[in-house]
Amino acid sequence: MSDPNRLIIFDTTLRDGEQSPGASMTKDEKVRIARQLERLRVDVIEAGFAAASPGDFEAIRAISSVVRESTICSLSRANDRDIARAAEALAPAARKRIHTFIATSPLHMQMKLRMEPEQVLEQARLAIRYARNHTDDIEFSPEDGSRSEEDFLCRVLEAVIAEGATTINFPDTVGYAVPQEFGERIRRLRERVPNSDKAIWSVHCHNDLGLAVANSLAGVAIGGARQIECTINGLGERAGNTALEEVVMALRTRADFYKLTVGIDTTQIVPASKMVSQITGFAVQPNKAVVGANAFAHASGIHQDGILKARETYEIMRAEDVGWSANKIVLGKLSGRNAFKARLSELGVELESEAEVNDAFARFKNLADRKAEIFDEDIMALVAQGEKEQVGEYYRFVSLAQRSETGELPHARVSFTMDGKEHTAEATGDGPVDAMINAIESKANSGAELLLFTINAISGSSQSQGEVTVRLSRNGRIVNGVGSDPDIVVASAKAYLSGLNKLQSKVERVNPQL
Ligand code: KIV
Ligand code: ZN
Repeated sequence: MSDPNRLIIFDTTLRDGEQSPGASMTKDEKVRIARQLERLRVDVIEAGFAAASPGDFEAIRAISSVVRESTICSLSRANDRDIARAAEALAPAARKRIHTFIATSPLHMQMKLRMEPEQVLEQARLAIRYARNHTDDIEFSPEDGSRSEEDFLCRVLEAVIAEGATTINFPDTVGYAVPQEFGERIRRLRERVPNSDKAIWSVHCHNDLGLAVANSLAGVAIGGARQIECTINGLGERAGNTALEEVVMALRTRADFYKLTVGIDTTQIVPASKMVSQITGFAVQPNKAVVGANAFAHASGIHQDGILKARETYEIMRAEDVGWSANKIVLGKLSGRNAFKARLSELGVELESEAEVNDAFARFKNLADRKAEIFDEDIMALVAQGEKEQVGEYYRFVSLAQRSETGELPHARVSFTMDGKEHTAEATGDGPVDAMINAIESKANSGAELLLFTINAISGSSQSQGEVTVRLSRNGRIVNGVGSDPDIVVASAKAYLSGLNKLQSKVERVNPQL
């Protein structure tokens, strides 16, 4: 890398982010997010873990075929089989990277790997040597780095750089580090490893103590790292990873302090956030920095007065710079097919055939009959709905009638198809949503347990569509179902059936780190 002040943004939404409970995605969904990450201009997209499952392999291959601007990366354990699989999946990529890892902390080596430190060192060395047969762009991570012994780390890192690793990624796998210590550790490692200048140093932080962004920035400012690994909305295992939108906007807004540049097109941040939230079913909390619905809302009178006089009094970033202006009325009932198609293409949605455009347009007209203003978020929801239908759903929503009145037990009658056959069921419940679920379950008997139910207004007004996420669990498997509709009980029924479809699906995602 020629410019020492240019920071690499490595996005792992499609790999580490996907390891969040229920966040597994289909190949098409992953490709859609990868295209958005390319529009966002992330430098590296970690598209998955090729050896983890055939589905992940295919998704990496598909992303490698369509994304041209960003480097595509696959994770692999430090063994020949995983590395060969990663290389095969990445074959079509214009620029490819293999990211291999092995645990180096005493706890992980003894309890998880049951290996001696010398064996771990040798395996790391051999993995890089083997990966070199496939690409020159190789990243190595000593897993659980922040709890590893420094002398041992120095030996491992020197060895892998000598074998040809070009990026050394230092992970705080369990979110244990604190900023000053983390930054100083990276600085010491860079000082002590004799060939450290032959690699770019990277940070990968988890958010268990809410410090992932702070640790990443310390790794850069104190430690001299020049790559940050992060995910959209901070998605990721347990409490998640470093949030891309937060580190990028911290680096941009405080460029006076960090004196670093990033290649990100920040106006694509909010569209990326909404897309990831919609596809994974992980809603963004309203007070979330940068991408939360309230991030630029000023409720207090004093603040509003200040903002009207001079925006800078209370705002350090401009909403439009992170893409909030994209949330505008785009189409309505009278909009034609061409306008709809043009808007799809502006949103980066490429439907493969005219038949798919026709189907999406039919869904759009249907929605426009019930909702006066159609926002970008509505269009993205329509597209997501179409993708689900193409997959060939086992359960499919048909119609719903619902009655609730003060003092009466809510009642729902739901029609839906199961394996192509239509069923109608009625039930009462504690509320209209409970009644709807009871009705569906009286026929489906799915055995699913409802872990979470959330409802959001897609575009923030009372005319908005409701977007519902349900998290369901069965036999240890956890999935998220998402549904949207101007009628929130219908949205809930669609979300519930979409969750049941995922539980029903034969293609089981393998969680790579389990
Ligand atoms: O958190 C972690 O240690 C990881 C590695 C595979 C980089 O995700
Ligand atoms: Zn991780």
